[in-house]
Formats: sequence, C-alpha cells, structure tokens
Amino acid sequence: MTNLGRLYSLFDDVQLPDNLPYTQVSTWELKFLYLLGRHHLTGEDRLVELGSGGGGSTYALAMGLHESPMFDEKTGRLHAYDFFRVGKGTFATEKFFDAGKAPEGDNSFLNEFRRRLDPFLPFLEIHAGDLWQTSDPDDRTPVEFLHIDIAKTSRVFKCVSERFLTRLRPGSVVLHQDFAGPRLPWLHYSTGALLPYIEIAGPPIRSTLAFEVVKPIPEDVLTVISEDSFSYDRKLELISAVQERIDRDHTGGIPFKSVLELAKAYVAHYDGRHKQAWAIARPLTSDEYLSRTRADHFEQLKKAYERDRRQSAGRSPMTRIKRLVRKAVRS
Ligand SMILES: C[S@@+](CC[C@H](N)C(=O)[O-])C[C@H]1O[C@@H](n2cnc3c(N)ncnc32)[C@H](O)[C@@H]1O
Repeated sequence: MTNLGRLYSLFDDVQLPDNLPYTQVSTWELKFLYLLGRHHLTGEDRLVELGSGGGGSTYALAMGLHESPMFDEKTGRLHAYDFFRVGKGTFATEKFFDAGKAPEGDNSFLNEFRRRLDPFLPFLEIHAGDLWQTSDPDDRTPVEFLHIDIAKTSRVFKCVSERFLTRLRPGSVVLHQDFAGPRLPWLHYSTGALLPYIEIAGPPIRSTLAFEVVKPIPEDVLTVISEDSFSYDRKLELISAVQERIDRDHTGGIPFKSVLELAKAYVAHYDGRHKQAWAIARPLTSDEYLSRTRADHFEQLKKAYERDRRQSAGRSPMTRIKRLVRKAVRS
C-alpha cells in the first residue's frame, strides 16, 4: 500500500458537518481532504489550495487540520487562492453566493467565504484575485500540500507550474481535482512527465488524482512542464503512461483510461489537428460514461473536424474548377 493509500481505509469513519459551504467537489473528495488534514499534513511547509471557490473544499481540509494533533494553528498556515468573485473568465459560479446568485451590483463572494470559514480564519491566509497577481514569483518556500482546482486554462496551469510545482519536495502531496476533465490535458501529460518522481496514492477519488512526491523533481522536467514545450507525440505518450497506472476511480464510477483517451483527442484538437482529434474521439462515443457525461465534448470535436473538411473541400482545385464550370454554364 502507498503512504497515502492508507487514508482510503478511513473514508467510512469521516462524518462531515451538515452545514458545509456549497461545493463543486464530491463528498468523497471532501472526505479525502479532511483525512489529509487530520492524519497526514503537518503545516511545517506551505499548505496551498488553488481554487477555493465558495469554501467547501477549504472547509473540509481546514477542519481536518483543526482536529489534527500534528498541525499547530499558531504557526501553520493554509493559503487559499481564488478570484472570490464571479464574472467573465473567472470560472466561479453564482452558486458560491449564499443566495445562489450574485446580489445586485456585487460580484464578490469574499465576505461570504470569510464568514463560512470563520472557525479557521486564525490559520487561513486568503489571496483574492487573479493567481498571476496574487502569487509571488520570487517565493521559493517549499510546498507541503497543493490542491489544484484552478487550472481550467493552460495559461493558469502555467502559473501553477512555474510558481507552485517548482516548490514541491519529497513528501509533498498534490491533488489534481480536475483529472476527470478531458479538456484539460495539461494536467494529464504533466503528470505523465512527473511519474518517475511521484507515487500515485491509489485509484483517483472521483475526479481527483492524488500523489506524493517521492524523489526531487529535476529542474529541466519542471521547465518543460512550465513552458509546455513537449512535442505533440510526447504529450500523447505521457498520457499513455498515466493510462497504464490508473483505471476506474475508487468509487468505480469514472473510467479513467477512457477519460484520458479523450484527453488525447483534446491534445490534437488544441494543436489544430481536428481530423486526428475526431479519429481518437469517435470510437469513444460508445463508452457509456463518456457518452452520458461528455456529449458536448464529442460535439465540439466533431464540429471542428467537419468545419475543416468543408473548408478543405472548398479549397480543392477540383471544386474550384467545378464552380467555374457551373458559373460559365449559367452565364
Ligand atoms: C471549480 S471552482 C473551485 C471549487 C471549490 N474547490 C469547491 O470546493 O467548490 C474553480 C475556482 O477557480 C477560480 N479560478 C479560476 N481561475 C483563476 C485565476 N486565474 N485566479 C484565481 N482564481 C481562479 C475560480 O474563481 C473558481 O472559484
């Protein structure tokens, strides 16, 4: 069993409070956050949550830390990063407001977040705003724990890689909350590149892949991840390497091998290889889980492929000749 794997046997013992803030993560993931706080983390190095939203995940983790004899609230700090407001490009939902929608003329749920997290404010450090602005490019202090629920775009993932992954050391724990998201393949191929230096905790917990760093990560590996300079083929290879390591999630509901195959289609899609993307995705339309949960992904990939096909048909010399002939006949 892996070091973190021992926490899986404790899921049934966790009783979460009924008044937990609204959250976008599952009860399983909340329980895992609690267990990490309660039984694993020490707070001697930085504890970081990227993408705290309305505070559900923050609350579960903070509650575990609060109950842990290993965590000293006087010195340990949990850093919570988020826009804490809704609006274009934030990826935050109005459900993070108490009323379930933003009040007239106000787009910030920061005060509501503070109020919900009140019992834990003494050891909570809140960083409100765009991660590129609120994180310190010169901070080199080691990170003990990183919850990544923020990397919805490659631009934000670049910030996560440059400023946080570079601070991981042996023993650090990372949770990728969006690992079941095929549209975020940077999470998957970067994890592939890290495989020689990490130990995957066990089956993902719903959408979350958890791992522990077991060897120092070489600087050149971190640089390629931050610069996203893997070749197209290398990205696919790295995702395949992760596919070999994980299958269904802990609850049995998410088939990760198929999810990661669809992530490969997105590598192709973002690279402008729409034909290839649809060739990878098409056979997956018969996957029960993907067809039920990712119909919009298939539609997007198919549309891009068909658009390309129409455009290249319009450009072919034969089509142009046919058009000219038709025009000549008409006149
Ligand atoms: C899926 S939500 C987080 C959900 C939360 N962990 C929970 O328990 O419900 C993702 C969050 O990432 C934040 N986010 C996305 N991009 C960001 C950025 N560039 N800077 C700061 N926050 C960002 C959004 O504001 C949003 O609240």
